[in-house]
Amino acid sequence: MYKKTLFLISAFLGVLLLTFALTLPSAALAPQTLTPTEQLGKALFFDISLSKNGNQSCATCHDPAVGYTGPDSTINAHGAVYPGSDPALFGNRKPPSAAYAGDSSLLSYNDAQAAWFGGMFWDGRAEGNVLGDPLAEQAKGPFLNPLEMALSSSEELCNKVQAGSYAGLFEQVWGAGSLDCAQADVVYDQIGISIAAYERSSEVNPYTSKFDLFWDKAKTKRLDVTMINTSNWTKYRRLGFSDAELYGLAMFNDPMYANCASCHSLKPGTKGYPLFTDYGYDNLGVPKNLENPFYLNLDYNPAGENWVDTGLGGYLETAYPEYAASEMGKMKVPTLRNVDKRPTTGFVKAYGHNGYFKSLTDIVRFYASRGMMGGMGGGGMGGGGMGGGGMGGGGMMCGGTMFPAPEVNENLATLKHFPCRDQAYLVTFLKTLSDGYFQR
Ligand code: HEC
Ligand code: HEC
Repeated sequence: MYKKTLFLISAFLGVLLLTFALTLPSAALAPQTLTPTEQLGKALFFDISLSKNGNQSCATCHDPAVGYTGPDSTINAHGAVYPGSDPALFGNRKPPSAAYAGDSSLLSYNDAQAAWFGGMFWDGRAEGNVLGDPLAEQAKGPFLNPLEMALSSSEELCNKVQAGSYAGLFEQVWGAGSLDCAQADVVYDQIGISIAAYERSSEVNPYTSKFDLFWDKAKTKRLDVTMINTSNWTKYRRLGFSDAELYGLAMFNDPMYANCASCHSLKPGTKGYPLFTDYGYDNLGVPKNLENPFYLNLDYNPAGENWVDTGLGGYLETAYPEYAASEMGKMKVPTLRNVDKRPTTGFVKAYGHNGYFKSLTDIVRFYASRGMMGGMGGGGMGGGGMGGGGMGGGGMMCGGTMFPAPEVNENLATLKHFPCRDQAYLVTFLKTLSDGYFQR
């Protein structure tokens, strides 16, 4: 019931937005002006008619109010995967953010680092080679995926776009006569490219978080944020962060401390701001989410409850099998931008490829616990960090109960140890990454 109402509201908002977008000059809409291609991409992104039952758009699973990820708190609190246009069918993973994804390169193997980078999806399978852009290639997928928008063909999609109020805009962008469904495959590519343009626009990637303001101020003072650590952090005071936020960032970046930035990189991307991902792949050892309804969908998942999500390795088995074994269980490092963005305080967001974690506190406790286990094995427990409490008993956890076994218990990333008592600083820092803190 709740879900239905929520859906109707979001559908209504979608239509409202679209009507606005098409009746007002775009400059009146938002401070950022969208180019015609971006406007077209936006119209496509929010159009629920582009689905089998006229009930689902990209935004149904990638809602701006939630940082372009799943907008249903109840779903997030449980299985964390979203129903398709056919409400009885579900995908098998949690929707990642569709924002800040545009810097990911073509999926490729880096010899020097002996590691894979780029592509789209948790497993990188939208490589990007077909259109020369993984984001545009990804954007074509959901329309014909039976577990998502479930249209039967590119012709059907083309016909629905022709019926859309933005059909004129399509021909303005792609040329007179371009919306020709006898050439539906060409139109299909153009749809993907237009959506990717919107997903790269300043509306979707505004860089307006508290962190971005801090970054700008640090730059004016010639302080390099990528050098912050737990020894020098006080030099970064008076740039808009509280001491707790600042220390959280210092832990996050310090290679000798939590070392989060070794994967969630602080190196500036194409727009000059960090994306909080290196677009690489790792297996953190996230447990299975047993509430995932995909386990019960025997038509699409013959393995039933024994199904294991092998991530990048599973994809490579089909494409480049000689590389697969060492990549089993690895998932793409997600951006952390908007990781705490939620419409209301009580709203539950899920974290990890299967949404196993239900709060930032949860996932940070997981990192703290895993850091201990990795540290034990690698003999890297030394150093000052051990002062914290929470080591009692078996010593393998940071308060609360022990985490279940990893979904894939091989190729596990080595994670840095940090004291349990410092977890809250990391959470406080992660909350500074939500857009809308200030206007540009
Ligand atoms: C039914 C829910 C659903 C719908 C509808 C949907 N997505 Fe997704 N999206 C997902 C899920 C789940 C994933 C991750 C799938 C995977 O990794 O196998 C994903 C992944 C993505 C990614 C990859 C991000 C990254 O960093 O790898 C992008 C971008 C994206 N979707 C954009 C879109 C666009 C554009 C549309 C509309 C054409 C769309 N999505 C429709 C659920 C959905
Ligand atoms: C070895 C690389 C690596 C390091 C180090 C790392 N992460 Fe991650 N992070 C990942 C990967 C990969 C995922 C997705 C894992 C999965 O779902 O299986 C992830 C997921 C997350 C998520 C969930 C995001 C979402 O949208 O679902 C958060 C939050 C997060 N990391 C924060 C941190 C923090 C805080 C630290 C430091 C304590 C950290 N990470 C260290 C690679 C890393």
